[in-house]
Amino acid sequence: MKVLGIETSCDECAAAVVEDGRKVLSSVVATQIPFHAAYNGVVPEIASRKHTEWIYGVAKESLDKAGLGPGDIEGVAAAGRPGLLGSLLVGLTFAKAFAWSRGLPFIAVDHMLAHLYASRLEPPGGARGTEPAPGAEPGGPSAEYPFLGLLVSGGHSIICRADNFDDITVLGTTIDDAVGEAFDKVSKHYGFGYPGGAVIDRMAQTGDSEAFRFPLPSLHKGEHRCDMSYSGLKTAVINQLEQFRGKHNPAGTEPRKEDIAASFQKTAVDILLRALFNAAEDTGLKTVVAGGGVAANSYLRARLAERKDLRCIFPPAELCGDNGAMIAGIGYQYLVRGETSPLSVNASARVNGFKRRYP
Ligand code: KG4
Ligand code: ZN
Repeated sequence: MKVLGIETSCDECAAAVVEDGRKVLSSVVATQIPFHAAYNGVVPEIASRKHTEWIYGVAKESLDKAGLGPGDIEGVAAAGRPGLLGSLLVGLTFAKAFAWSRGLPFIAVDHMLAHLYASRLEPPGGARGTEPAPGAEPGGPSAEYPFLGLLVSGGHSIICRADNFDDITVLGTTIDDAVGEAFDKVSKHYGFGYPGGAVIDRMAQTGDSEAFRFPLPSLHKGEHRCDMSYSGLKTAVINQLEQFRGKHNPAGTEPRKEDIAASFQKTAVDILLRALFNAAEDTGLKTVVAGGGVAANSYLRARLAERKDLRCIFPPAELCGDNGAMIAGIGYQYLVRGETSPLSVNASARVNGFKRRYP
């Protein structure tokens, strides 16, 4: 079954065709980064306008690249939540119209569950899942449920137990900023570039991660064992370096930006892994499946690969960030179960449908 997946929850206008929930026949991601870079962040109004301009062309390109016409598509899926409301509405409405006009089954899916599904996809070219770092395993069907999910993006940081593609229990989450947001905000403060994650990841490779020490949040006990906090780190990175400049550095030389990037990144990953390892200990689960833009982070991948007792599965780098293939992939799973959404289904900026907390 060939499913068209549409993703417009934030600043990527994306469409893909996936066969049988697994094989990516095409994946087109049109990024709006140049339009938001001047503002150092996504401007929701600009995002939804660009999606409106681009969605037809992006969807058409995904069909062309798959060598298919609209008549070959057998189901349609779109991200319906969570995300920027105006942006979500564009893709959701396009997908509904496509499905309605061709009499196809339609499903609105959750963007975060789709990120968790991404490692099960086979990207074009055949190889399924990339080998992220020595010791870590490629993704794909071998990730049996239940496993631990590590969902890390610009809007969410979630550690969960996954019992099925649509059945997750949130074990921990951020109590303030998301991890990707912290990368973006630190990068914005120092003028490193936008979006910050990939820039900091690259800069950190030539930096000293021990150059600056930032405190970890005291969330490691009791009910917060698997939770994270990033707003304190963001403030520390900014304030501590101002102090460094004054107290220890009368000559006024600037700290190396690569050292700032590496030290921040190390602490950001330490926070994430402390919560994740607590979750592994509490649940006894030995497989970790990552997803979301921050799952592309090379330092996170390398650190996880050091834990030989855990099996760590990452999506291929191009399927970590927002894409239509993860939407089509998870959409297929609902459609083969006979589940569809009514064409009256609305977009939602947030979702509360998971057990425990899901911000
Ligand atoms: O999943 P995603 O594409 O969009 C959301 O659903 O939010 O994630 C985007 C986030 C941004 O905060 C971006 O800075 C971060 O993922 N990101 C990274 C890397 N690549 C993207 N963070 C750390 N290291 C990276 N290599
Ligand atoms: Zn995302």
